[in-house]
Amino acid sequence: MNILILGCGGQVGWELQRSLAPLGHVTACDFDTPGSLKADFSQPEALRALVAQVQPGLIVNAAAHTAVDKAESEPELARAINATAPGVLAEEAARLGALLVHYSTDYVFDGGGDQPRSEDAPTGPLSVYGHTKLEGEQRIRACGCSHLIFRTSWVYAARGGNFAKTMLRLAAEREALNVIDDQIGAPTGAELLADVTAHAALRVLAQPELAGTYHCAAGGSTSWHGYARFVIEHARATGMALKVPADAVHPIPTSAYPTPAQRPLNSRLATHKLQQAFGLVLPEWQSGVRRMLTEHLGR
Ligand SMILES: NC(=O)c1ccc[n+]([C@@H]2O[C@H](COP(=O)([O-])OP(=O)(O)OC[C@H]3O[C@@H](n4cnc5c(N)ncnc54)[C@H](OP(=O)(O)O)[C@@H]3O)[C@@H](O)[C@H]2O)c1
Repeated sequence: MNILILGCGGQVGWELQRSLAPLGHVTACDFDTPGSLKADFSQPEALRALVAQVQPGLIVNAAAHTAVDKAESEPELARAINATAPGVLAEEAARLGALLVHYSTDYVFDGGGDQPRSEDAPTGPLSVYGHTKLEGEQRIRACGCSHLIFRTSWVYAARGGNFAKTMLRLAAEREALNVIDDQIGAPTGAELLADVTAHAALRVLAQPELAGTYHCAAGGSTSWHGYARFVIEHARATGMALKVPADAVHPIPTSAYPTPAQRPLNSRLATHKLQQAFGLVLPEWQSGVRRMLTEHLGR
């Protein structure tokens, strides 16, 4: 089977190159990653020729306009990348009879309440990013191709920058930190998403009735403040020299840290549907973060 990965240099795309390798012949594309085929999502129509060239049985789209604040000032580009391009991929998947896997986000919801949301909960995006990601989902569903859409949250990876690494740097430089404590979600590893993708895609190729939209996030939940404290305490326990004392990581409300894009306060995603359909157990968020920190800190 030919497999086409889009966004191969991103957090999830990088891990997909590993997890999908045993499933077939992988062609990995990105916007500007050296050594990969070029796929520019700002020109959605051009993606048709790429799909025709690769003739995939499985298309996995990890490319996205993920700069949530920047998207507020470039909505047309965000829409092309997050909505129009996935729609074109869905049309091409339908034409070839291929399975399309796509990723979406907790930001399609308005963040009200304090309960985990299920896949059929009403959407209500608060930002350009959220609106365009929701439109991408809708275009894929409307097109009728076999698809898996995974909505996830707070993605991190060992490769590249991430929130945990930023907190460690700041904790080594500063005597006090202020971190938001009223946005609640589950940090989810790109590794976990890529592994779930490989498993679920194989199952759907054999049992097409399992196709659909699923929430996929690590177990449990925390705030950015809880996440930061976990990371800092882990680093301190492994002997990393930190300037910030344990009691100087202060919780602040979202209102004290204004950003161009509004973010949902409640990012909890209910994952029973995925776990039941595919017989999977999604580990607690701490286990993946601990593993990423061990790789990063080398201890
Ligand atoms: N990050 C999160 O916290 C989060 C949370 C929920 C859902 N998600 C979703 O999960 C998926 C994967 O996210 P991620 O964190 O892996 O994203 P990421 O690390 O930001 O990677 C995004 C990828 O998209 C590519 N890209 C950007 N503009 C492009 C363009 N014009 N044409 C082609 N490719 C382009 C980037 O390529 P270059 O590097 O070459 O620019 C990069 O490889 C996305 O669908 C995202 O919406 C992410």
